[in-house]
Amino acid sequence: MFLEVKNLTKKYNKKTVVSDVSFGVEEGELLTILGPSGCGKTTVLRALGGFLKLDKGKITLDGVDITTIPPEERPVSTVFQSYGLFPHMRVLDNVIYGLKFAGIKRKDAEKIGIEMLEKVHLKGEEKKLPSQLSGGQQQRVALARGLVTHPKLLLLDEPLSNLDAKLRLELRSEIKAIQREFNITTIFVTHDQEEAFSVADKIMLMNEGELVQFDMPRNLYEKPVTKFSLDFIGSVNYDEENNRFCRLEDVYFHKDGEEMEVLDSSFKGQLMEYVLLTSDGTTIRTVSLDKSHEYGTGEKVRAVVKWFALDEMMLGGQ
Ligand SMILES: Nc1ncnc2c1ncn2[C@@H]1O[C@H](COP(=O)(O)OP(=O)(O)O)[C@@H](O)[C@H]1O
Ligand SMILES: [Mg+2]
Repeated sequence: MFLEVKNLTKKYNKKTVVSDVSFGVEEGELLTILGPSGCGKTTVLRALGGFLKLDKGKITLDGVDITTIPPEERPVSTVFQSYGLFPHMRVLDNVIYGLKFAGIKRKDAEKIGIEMLEKVHLKGEEKKLPSQLSGGQQQRVALARGLVTHPKLLLLDEPLSNLDAKLRLELRSEIKAIQREFNITTIFVTHDQEEAFSVADKIMLMNEGELVQFDMPRNLYEKPVTKFSLDFIGSVNYDEENNRFCRLEDVYFHKDGEEMEVLDSSFKGQLMEYVLLTSDGTTIRTVSLDKSHEYGTGEKVRAVVKWFALDEMMLGGQ
């Protein structure tokens, strides 16, 4: 394992905010840490960056124990949500800042910096100040600054959450392309599951300081190992009595299905969403891509429901 984290534990005022978290990342992989606000994502990232003292745990990167190495000596770069650029420094100087300490001559550093700015589509912006750039451009500068030192590990803490929706999508595919091009081992923190699914090779789901599930995105969706995974990822119908669940797309209209009544329908743009009432009085939500026919409230329909037992899944996912 290229990055190996063992029993990472952090307390603040006796309160454990990260509890015995262990995981590994292969070289060149992109791991997403996903979980609700306050679950400990940033704390894990700051521990990897060397910005806090651990109560317990060991971090090994490329065979070297870095647990007690100070941040500036770790081969790790961090990109923050708020960009963290030096406001009085021009774009190029921001990018090559880290090279100063690597003993690279100014002229060579500038050349490297300009090449890096080209990679993040900021050619020609070298002389501007950060404040003269848009949020998306500033985040690209931060990314270039993080990459220019060729770190072994790149840490991104909610890098897109200050950007508007369209830009977020754009920059997210750029980050992924750059990550692939550099083959750089990356940990990307987000609270947005859609974002996590679209960038991650693997996802580490956290809740209340604990690792809940570490898996490929597809397994997280199809084989949730806990009720928390089930609730946090995607939309779901949960049948508490029988401890089983079905995703909205696991319910589909079919003439051989059981009879149900439409309680509500709503147009969602890409698809229709329905709330159905079964004969035993439970409600089930479903979606349909067929927008040519819209079922109305009160209408009788037939639908097939594909249930999955959560217990079985719990075994299957482990
Ligand atoms: N410096 C600190 N002092 C005290 N508590 C902190 C500190 N940093 C984080 N915490 C607490 O630790 C928990 C996890 O925080 P954090 O890692 O920032 O969560 P996330 O990034 O998932 O939103 C939260 O309850 C937060 O209030
Ligand atoms: Mg955070």
